[in-house]
Amino acid sequence: MSEQLNPKDFIITRKRKKYKFALFANSPLCFEFDEWQKADDVDVVEIGAGNAHFLVELAACWPNQQFVALDVKADRLQSGARKATEQRLTNIRFVRARADQIDQLFMPCTLSTIWLTFSDPFPRKRSSGRRMTHPNFLRKYATVLKPSGALLIKHDNPDFFNWSLEQLVAEKWQITELSFDLHESELANDYKILTAYEQRWLGEGRITRFAHVTPPVR
Ligand SMILES: C[S@@+](CC[C@H](N)C(=O)[O-])C[C@H]1O[C@@H](n2cnc3c(N)ncnc32)[C@H](O)[C@@H]1O
Repeated sequence: MSEQLNPKDFIITRKRKKYKFALFANSPLCFEFDEWQKADDVDVVEIGAGNAHFLVELAACWPNQQFVALDVKADRLQSGARKATEQRLTNIRFVRARADQIDQLFMPCTLSTIWLTFSDPFPRKRSSGRRMTHPNFLRKYATVLKPSGALLIKHDNPDFFNWSLEQLVAEKWQITELSFDLHESELANDYKILTAYEQRWLGEGRITRFAHVTPPVR
């Protein structure tokens, strides 16, 4: 016989989600896309940040830089906002927006770094346009990055990672740092701060690939 489900569990779950959305709406660090004023003072952005604990940790290490975590899910972002508030950080904000809206959020040529951490791999060929390293996204990232800026990618999925490298090369980005096993490499410790997904996957023995790439010369 299949396991019985208790409807009350679902009510509690929905309430919990509503509670998280309320936390997002009430936090002065959190913004809906429509509330955000196009910025020219942001240094580092993480796209698809999830709970953004990785970016909160980076923001704590670099108090003189301004950070923004982007995700489409407010209930995830609010977790990072709570952490930032607990740590009294004033240099990080959380914006509920889609990756393709990045050029509407930031002034051209102003960002130093864009992080893509464990983006959804969309393994089906017909969904390749949704991968965050698709040329349509790469071209938008290139417009908001400073010429000296960089896109930093961490991923555990070799197919996604290799496909991304191919797109970057075809789009004339320069690969400046590359590792097929970040945590065994001598690359900077900042890169090795674990994201929520990474923490889970590393425990299962997966390996983090990493690339630091700079935009095509204009
Ligand atoms: C696999 S999770 C990784 C989360 C986080 N970067 C980490 O490493 O723990 C991918 C995240 O990307 C977000 N996402 C998916 N498509 C997006 C899009 N088009 N724009 C912004 N965020 C997106 C999802 O909501 C999800 O939180």
